[in-house]
Amino acid sequence: MSGITPDALVLGIETSCDETAAALVKGGREVLSSIISSQVALHQKYGGVVPEVASRNHLERILPVIDEAIAAAGVELAEIDAVAVTYGPGLVGSLLVGVSVAKAIAFARQIPLIGVNHIEGHIYANFLAFPQLQPPLLCLTVSGGHTALFAVRELGRYELLGQTRDDAAGEAFDKIARVLGLGYPGGPQVERVARTGDPTAYDFPRALQSEATLDFSFSGLKTAVLNHLNQRRQKSGTADLDPGELADIAASFQAAIIDALEEKVLLALERTGINQVALSGGVAANRALRERLQQSIEQRGARFYAPPLEYTTDNAAMIAAAGFHRLLAGECSELSLNAVPGLQFGK
Ligand code: KG4
Ligand code: ZN
Repeated sequence: MSGITPDALVLGIETSCDETAAALVKGGREVLSSIISSQVALHQKYGGVVPEVASRNHLERILPVIDEAIAAAGVELAEIDAVAVTYGPGLVGSLLVGVSVAKAIAFARQIPLIGVNHIEGHIYANFLAFPQLQPPLLCLTVSGGHTALFAVRELGRYELLGQTRDDAAGEAFDKIARVLGLGYPGGPQVERVARTGDPTAYDFPRALQSEATLDFSFSGLKTAVLNHLNQRRQKSGTADLDPGELADIAASFQAAIIDALEEKVLLALERTGINQVALSGGVAANRALRERLQQSIEQRGARFYAPPLEYTTDNAAMIAAAGFHRLLAGECSELSLNAVPGLQFGK
């Protein structure tokens, strides 16, 4: 038994990809501090996250980030009741930095350690942002590594309804941004450019549309955009797109992603009878996606929740919150906890 109390102070640590993050959360819902050191600038010149660069930078940043989180919360290390850390899925070298530091703190302080699944953390971002939110709810998790739809029947119990069969939605945004010359991370760039474009200019495919499955697939969409660009280059003899054409391609691509996500969310509402939907993961920052989901979900008489941006992208407050609930349920990890890069969730 972990033996923690309902107002326990949990230190959360998150290093699964390219953000070094630490947070202090009291009682699973009150965020005292949440510090995120982003490596985006480091990886930008490579057009994506370079695992070796990421883990080295986590090593440099993790202790200062934890110190900053403790100082910002106005507490002492000695007051922390438990440590929660992401142990998967993610990049192994990155995960190992957080897991090692969390184990060292738990061992030194003789306090409980809990390994948290990163995806469960993203779901918990909603409970942090909306303290009144209670299951049952549907959760659409859309990030750079994952696109999945869960039914959260009760806290800690998740049913995987559907997931991507190939690329994650964020991964598709990043890849298309790269071929359009928009830089990394791609999602915010595509969204920015798409704002002035016509989403109906190109009829890019919506995979699995009108099929009974709640799964997603984005690799065909990615290929369709690439084919379009190649054909255009062959015809015109240049790779240069004028700004209007670029905006139309970005807007049409984004519309195809949003249509696919919306369709499956609405189908899941119908099938499960659940009447609230929450959004999580980095792609949840997309305003066009939020607005569309809000409109269509509310039109069906259900409620829609989208956390503020600080909770949708990778952060450690969501990890502390998810860890707190596992500890309160009597779960606890051994000090032999290891990083599990391909950790599954909700199966
Ligand atoms: O959850 P997250 O921070 O990290 C992972 O766990 O993957 O998600 C990062 C992903 C990236 O693929 C990024 O391009 C995407 O979220 N993203 C967006 C937007 N902001 C971030 N995608 C679409 N529109 C955005 N505004
Ligand atoms: Zn994430």
